[in-house]
Amino acid sequence: MCGIIARIGGDDGAVDELLTGLENLEYRGYDSAGLAVKNGSGPEVFKRQGEISHLKEVLADEVPDGGLGIGHTRWSTHGPPSDENAHPHTDCSGDVAIVHNGIIENYDELKADLLARGHEFTSDTDTEVIPHLVEESLAEGADPETAFRETLEKLSGSYAVAMITKHDHAVYATRRGSPLVLGVSDGEYFLASDVPAFLDFTDDVIYLDDGDVVEVRPDGHRITTADGEAVERSVQTVEWDPEDAGKGGYDHYMLKEIHEQPAALRQTLRGRADPTTGDIHLEEFPPGTFEDVKRVQFVACGTSYHAGLVGAQFLSDSGVPAQTFLASEYATGQPPVDDETLVVGVTQSGETADTLSALRRANASGAKTLAVTNVVGSTAARECDDALFIRAGPEIGVAATKTFSSQVVSLALLGERLVRDVTGTRSPETRERLDALSDLPGNVQQILDYTSARRIAKRYHDSDAYFFIGRGAVRPVALEGALKFKEISYEHAEGFAAGELKHGPLALVTDRTPVFAVFTGRNDEKTLGNVKEAEARGAPVVAVASDANDEVYQHADEVLTIPETHPDVAGVLANVQLQLVSYHAADLLGRPIDKPRNLAKSVTVE
Ligand code: M6R
Repeated sequence: MCGIIARIGGDDGAVDELLTGLENLEYRGYDSAGLAVKNGSGPEVFKRQGEISHLKEVLADEVPDGGLGIGHTRWSTHGPPSDENAHPHTDCSGDVAIVHNGIIENYDELKADLLARGHEFTSDTDTEVIPHLVEESLAEGADPETAFRETLEKLSGSYAVAMITKHDHAVYATRRGSPLVLGVSDGEYFLASDVPAFLDFTDDVIYLDDGDVVEVRPDGHRITTADGEAVERSVQTVEWDPEDAGKGGYDHYMLKEIHEQPAALRQTLRGRADPTTGDIHLEEFPPGTFEDVKRVQFVACGTSYHAGLVGAQFLSDSGVPAQTFLASEYATGQPPVDDETLVVGVTQSGETADTLSALRRANASGAKTLAVTNVVGSTAARECDDALFIRAGPEIGVAATKTFSSQVVSLALLGERLVRDVTGTRSPETRERLDALSDLPGNVQQILDYTSARRIAKRYHDSDAYFFIGRGAVRPVALEGALKFKEISYEHAEGFAAGELKHGPLALVTDRTPVFAVFTGRNDEKTLGNVKEAEARGAPVVAVASDANDEVYQHADEVLTIPETHPDVAGVLANVQLQLVSYHAADLLGRPIDKPRNLAKSVTVE
């Protein structure tokens, strides 16, 4: 997805800080990059298709002076990746420069009108209508802020925009459905789509509300609502530091984030569960919070959907009616909801458009909504009735890893609270399960220390296709294993319920299609039966299992061992092994692991 960064400072230094910000935004996925600096009079624009290094080459000969500027990484939606379509975009005179995330839905008609009035366009983008509309307001005598507001009134869609003009030393920006945060430092400010963009410079952040318009100058800022009413928004200090957001000596963010899981899980669990008493302490949700809930629906996409499947399975098994929906499908076939329905949006970023749309729909139908997210201040956290933070720390790699583990653990804790509130009883297995959860960080560390994932990836990484199977609580892990594998290796991978293999997919199984089978210690004999079906067709079998299961060892060509634990928790451990296999296979195949082609970290279009 596109990324915005703006730097608002006094005399100089904007370009270097904008480039740092752009590099920090790379993880969102992009195909071109650019910046505009206020240099003496008008904005000076530099932009290039491709990597930020291409933009740096353009700037290498001469870095322009200037303390104020806007920058952008583009992920194409309207018009292919090209120098012309890269942001910033300007008006006919070049006096107004704009960067934009999101989509202007009525750009076609706006553009037709502007062309008819003599404006000249240089790109295929929807964005370019914005500077031309500002140009018209300025020509009619409006000051830059008024021109900006008048333009916003003409736009429909969801977007975040930042603007500089030759007329004053300020950045004007707004967010309407796309994230935008304001970083506050000594004598300088930053605007960005995401906090890691400016973490090198400040950790003091103001989260803007949807509709806010902000005018930022080096010596101060002013926030107004969509109606023009001045508002104060509090400054919050984020706990992430730049080191957290850097690679810290690993070759890839993904590998670093896989290795951060013990620490992330400790944070997720900190103070929330007491295995000796079986008590759950979720800050925002004291006992009784969910007494009126009759059913739970999870809405999510991708990896978060797989975490949602685990959450729903746990609740259903414990007597609370629960279902999980792909957020993008929820809007069309939404099941009945009422004020006794709790709709839980599971979203790492809190900005996924499909998930936000499903949550808004649920909200409008009277359901209670709850965001389970990693990002404090995200749109999901702010729009839902409540939020539970998974505390995994920043995740930069496009492939979700540590956040899946922290989501599953958060949903397990939330599930315990829900079961008690809704059924009035506590599962006899609670203490055992909480024990297993508190052992998780150590168990994950054990896997990281002793895994044979690289050797196994080496053995199989030139196969024809890869299948992942699991039953019950680990069916979502099989789906997640396949998603991760295809996402970063570009190899064909599919995940199935173990029992479904024989109902069709078995036709694809050959001696060149390894089958990864996940075992938990529950219903293993049935999954083993499915493994034998694949084995009989010559498929290499890689089991993910604890060493307590002798028979599995006899039938597998390779085993990715996990420490013995409660069956409801085993999936998190198995998934770590599968993350490592995917990572090493992709590495051996020479893929760009942190930025897989065509994908973005945060998908803010439906
Ligand atoms: O930020 P979210 O959790 O809402 O993102 C949902 C999906 O886009 C995301 O999990 C995606 O599937 C990951 N790239 C998978 O690794």
